[in-house]
Amino acid sequence: MELILDTANVEAIKYYQQVLTIDGVTTNPTILTKENRDYREVIQEIISVLHEDQSLHIQVVSTDVEGIVKEGKVINQLRKNTYAKIPCTKEGFQAMKQLKQEGYLVTATACYSANQGVLAAKCGVDYIAPYLNRLDNIGVDGVAIIADLVAILDYYGYPTKVVAASFKNAQQALEMMKAGCPAMTIAPEVVDKMMEQSMTDDAVRAFSSDWKKAFNEEGFNW
Ligand code: E4P
Repeated sequence: MELILDTANVEAIKYYQQVLTIDGVTTNPTILTKENRDYREVIQEIISVLHEDQSLHIQVVSTDVEGIVKEGKVINQLRKNTYAKIPCTKEGFQAMKQLKQEGYLVTATACYSANQGVLAAKCGVDYIAPYLNRLDNIGVDGVAIIADLVAILDYYGYPTKVVAASFKNAQQALEMMKAGCPAMTIAPEVVDKMMEQSMTDDAVRAFSSDWKKAFNEEGFNW
């Protein structure tokens, strides 16, 4: 299972690079605006902290086919292993197909149905990012839709990977793993929720206190 960080915050990327095993970074236009600096500078810094084998997914901003294709090519050329994120609009599908025919890396995004996901897979995209929490927010079962998409792609043998996106809690991440979703892109604050367990902290406090009482030492000193 690939764990990708959904952020453009360079400090957060550096931190999770050290703490966990991260397979890449995704951004979107909104995420990039949150850094309050020039997006080119932010992207350059993200590139400088990523290892060569980690993926980077950057979204196009243009909405017409020609503009999407042009931006998709520029994004691919920023660095090896860099995917152009393209929304699942009609223009987006056309641009995905064209870019894949020319050998570029593409992640279909803003996917709100299994149908859209399958059509993107037929365009040959590498990843599809369905928006789990945004589906839940409108009263649709996001987990069920993404589980359907994962099963359909598996049934037909498409190599496209589903990268579930838009998480607001750790339970959603667990549900995606139970559905066999091959990749997830998760914001740092939700990754924290996956790691945290107050009972683990309580247990560690008790171990330390027992040790100190018995041996009057803070650590294991041989
Ligand atoms: C990532 O690829 C998506 O753009 C992102 O997960 C959307 O998340 P949001 O619904 O929290 O904005």
